[in-house]
Amino acid sequence: MGNDSVSKTLIVIFTLCVVCSVVVSTAAVMLRPLQEQNRLAELNASIRQVAGLPRSDAGDADTGAVVEARIVELESGEYAGEPEVAGFDMVDSARDPQLSAALERGDDIARIQRLPRFAKVYLLKRGDQLDKIVLPLYGYGLWSTLYGFIALEADANTVYGLQFYRHGETPGLGGRVDDPAWRALWRGKRIYESGIGAPVLDVIKGRVAVGDSRASYKVDGLSGATITSRGVGNMIRFWFGERGYRRFLAKNWPQKTGAAPGRG
Ligand SMILES: Cc1cc2nc3c(=O)[nH]c(=O)nc-3n(C[C@H](O)[C@H](O)[C@H](O)COP(=O)(O)O)c2cc1C
Repeated sequence: MGNDSVSKTLIVIFTLCVVCSVVVSTAAVMLRPLQEQNRLAELNASIRQVAGLPRSDAGDADTGAVVEARIVELESGEYAGEPEVAGFDMVDSARDPQLSAALERGDDIARIQRLPRFAKVYLLKRGDQLDKIVLPLYGYGLWSTLYGFIALEADANTVYGLQFYRHGETPGLGGRVDDPAWRALWRGKRIYESGIGAPVLDVIKGRVAVGDSRASYKVDGLSGATITSRGVGNMIRFWFGERGYRRFLAKNWPQKTGAAPGRG
C-alpha cells in the first residue's frame, strides 16, 4: 500500500485512535484510586482548617487534638451506629433512595432536592473537652451547589469558621465566599437566639450597620453577588433548621441552644 493511498491513511488514523483511547482510558481507570485519595485528603484538610487545625495531623499528639467523626441521624438527632463512619459520604448518600428522601419544594430553601437521612459530623476534642463541632452543609448559589463545612464553638451556637471546598460561583463575584476577609466575618456570629428554636443567622444585603444591636446574627453580603450570598444564608437556615442539625444540637446541647430536647 502506498503512503498516499486512502486506505493506508484510514488504517493509520484508526490504529492511532485505538491506541490513544486505550492509553487515555487505562490512565483514567488507574488514576481513579489516586484521585479519590486526593479528594478525601482535601476534604480532611478542609475539615481541619475550618476547625482551626493545621492541614496535617502530624502535631495532633502534641496538642492533644483529636478529631472524631460520628454519624448522626438527622430526623431523631441521635448518633447512629450505621452506616459505618469510614467510607460514608453524606453528599453521595443523598442520591441513594434508601439513605435520603425527596424534599418538598417549599421546604427546600437550600435547593438540594434530596435530604440525606444521615450526616457525618466531626467533634474536635482536646483531651476530654469538646472544642469545636464541625458540620457539613451545602446548598445552591447562583450557578452551582456550594459544599462546605461550618465549625461551631463548644456552645453549639457560636460560629468559629465557615469554609467551602467546592463550588462553581464566579471568581471575583460569588467566588468571594472563599475570600479570607469575608470568611473572617463569620467568627463569633450566632446561629440561634436564646430561647428561640429557629436559626436566625443570615447573610444580609450590604453591610451590617455599625452599632446594630443584632449584629451577631448578621453577616455582610458579598457586593455584586447577592444571589450567592442569599444562597449561603438559605443554606445556614436550612441546615440549622428542623430538617437539618437543630434536633441534633438541641438534644446534645439543650442548655446551650436554648431549645428543649425533643421539642419540634
Ligand atoms: C458573568 C456574570 C457572573 C456573575 N456571577 C455571579 C455570582 O457568582 N454570584 C452572584 O450572586 N451574582 C453573580 N452575578 C450577578 C448577578 O447576576 C446579580 O446581578 C447579582 O447577584 C446582584 O447582586 P447585587 O444586588 O449585589 O448587585 C454575575 C453576573 C454576571 C454578568
